[in-house]
Order: sequence, then C-alpha cells, then structure tokens
Amino acid sequence: MKTILQTSRLTKSYGAKTVVSDLNMTVQQGDIYGFLGQNGAGKTTTLRMIMGLIRPSAGEIELFGTPLHGNKNKAMERIGAIIEYPGFYLNLNAADNLDIHRRMMGMGNRESIEEALEAVGLLEAKHQKVKQYSLGMKQRLGIARALLHHPELLILDEPTNGLDPGGMKEMRQLFLELARKRGITFLISSHLLSEIEQLANKIGILHRGCLLEEIDYETLQKKTRNYLDLNVTDEKKAAFILEQKLGTTDYVIAGSGGLRLYDHLDRPDLVSMLLAQNGVGVREMRLAGDSLEDYFLKLTGGESSA
Ligand SMILES: Nc1ncnc2c1ncn2[C@@H]1O[C@H](COP(=O)(O)OP(=O)(O)O)[C@@H](O)[C@H]1O
Ligand SMILES: [Mg+2]
Repeated sequence: MKTILQTSRLTKSYGAKTVVSDLNMTVQQGDIYGFLGQNGAGKTTTLRMIMGLIRPSAGEIELFGTPLHGNKNKAMERIGAIIEYPGFYLNLNAADNLDIHRRMMGMGNRESIEEALEAVGLLEAKHQKVKQYSLGMKQRLGIARALLHHPELLILDEPTNGLDPGGMKEMRQLFLELARKRGITFLISSHLLSEIEQLANKIGILHRGCLLEEIDYETLQKKTRNYLDLNVTDEKKAAFILEQKLGTTDYVIAGSGGLRLYDHLDRPDLVSMLLAQNGVGVREMRLAGDSLEDYFLKLTGGESSA
C-alpha cells in the first residue's frame, strides 16, 4: 500500500500558542481518513499546512512520498481540496463556473467539466444559475471543482457543515462512490463523530492540537464491542458451562463473580437458563459496552465533540 500523506512532528504556533502539536499522521492510498476533532482542535490549521497555504512552525509533510517543501506545485497537481467555503459566481451557471476555474488554473479541458459534474450528480442542473442551487448542490459543485484536474487525493474540511441529515447522507454516498469508482483517497475533517463513523476506514482523533489516536475503524469497533455483563455465583464454572454448552470462548472473567460474554448477546434467556440448569446462579445480567461516543469522551477527557 502506498503512503499518500505523512506528517512528522508537524507543529504550528501562533505567538506563544501552539495550535497543532507534534502531529504524526499517515494516510494510505485508498483511505477515507476521518480527521475528527471538536471546534478549535486544529483541523483547519493542519489541513492548511498540508495544502501549503500556511507554513508549519516545525515538522515535516510528505505527499506522495516527496517532501512538500520545495515541491508544492507538483504535489498540488495531484490534490483537490475544499478548505474554505467554496465561492462561486452566483449569477453564472455551474458549467460556466467550472470553466472559469479551469481556465484560471490552466488545467483540464472542456470535457473534464462534464465529467466532474456527472461525478457529483449535477449534470442535469448544469445550466441552472448557482444562486438557485441548494447548499447541498453548492457543496457538490465544490467537489466537482476539486475534481476537475483528476486528483488522487481529496482534502475536504468539514464538507457536510450546515447540511441537513439528507444532504449529509448524499455527501457520504458521493464520497464512497468516488473512492470506489475512481480510487480517490480522502482526507475529511469533521467535528461530528457520527459523520466520520459512517464514512471513514481510518480515524485520526485530534484534541487541542494533539493527535490522540489514529486507528482503523475495525479496531475501533472491536474496542467498543458490546457484551453481556454477568454476575454469577461461580464465574469459573460459568465459563466452563459456556464453553461446553454454547461452544463459545469469547468471554472474559472479571473476578468476584463477574464475567463478560461477547457472544450470544441476543440470547440472554438462553445463557441464564443454561447456567442455572448446570448449577450456577445468575445474580445479575445486563447488556453493556462502550459506545463509540463513550470511547471518544474517555479519550478527550469528557469533552464531547458533537
Ligand atoms: N491565524 C491565527 N492566529 C492565531 N490563532 C489562530 C489562527 N488560526 C487559527 N488559530 C487558532 O488555532 C486554533 C485551532 O483552530 P482551527 O485549526 O481553525 O481549528 P478547527 O478547524 O479544528 O476548528 C483555534 O484556537 C484558533 O483560534
Ligand atoms: Mg475548522
């Protein structure tokens, strides 16, 4: 797997205030990387450094295996981005807006406009003036503009901000489709855990300028698994019965009667019956587990991101 982006000890300070601190992040080819952090965490600052829009105070950025410093233009040819709210000429239609951008940037050809509009589902609306566009359509037009030069990496700063749930869902579907069909790698920031959770295969959690964790979605799911939290008269005997009668070893003995069963969550009745039938009393049983939200709250010391 190719590494698309790697930062090492990336730092940005304004005066005495460090807003991004020693950040090591890695985005691999094909990732949909969710860059999660509450407002003020330093997401935009980080993305702006990666785009070469502001200069780091310390640390390095590598894009496509090459240091950004000294190779900015080459790197940017392979990147599409929406960092700030995309501005458009409201009295012009979508196609003309893209054409102006294309000529200004000296890239692509006219066909690339149709292609980009098609990719974001705006081909039908291409002759409509942008002022008649909904916010969701404008966002999609922003994506189309970022796609004009066929980038390998799309960097999107809170692309679903301000959209209603329907619009958010459409955006997620668009990103997944672009990733799948065109093999585009995504770096997407958000302050909403629920957004990132439904989209990303890799999540970087930024808190007060520090990357607390960079984790695969699958690993994160395992850490936040649900279980049946049992209190029984004899946990060792209970474990033996679970293995013999239910054929599961997916449990953890917690001591003093405690046992966590990660299996058969939908059959607490069966579990308690089998234990009782085999001479183990069940004092208590409940469904437990950290939600992703709980996990995130613990990591950030109780400050919610949403
Ligand atoms: N040009 C600047 N000068 C001073 N402080 C800044 C500047 N830009 C951003 N900050 C501060 O850096 C912190 C992180 O901001 P930002 O990167 O915008 O966070 P996020 O995008 O995660 O909401 C904030 O406290 C913000 O006030
Ligand atoms: Mg921001």
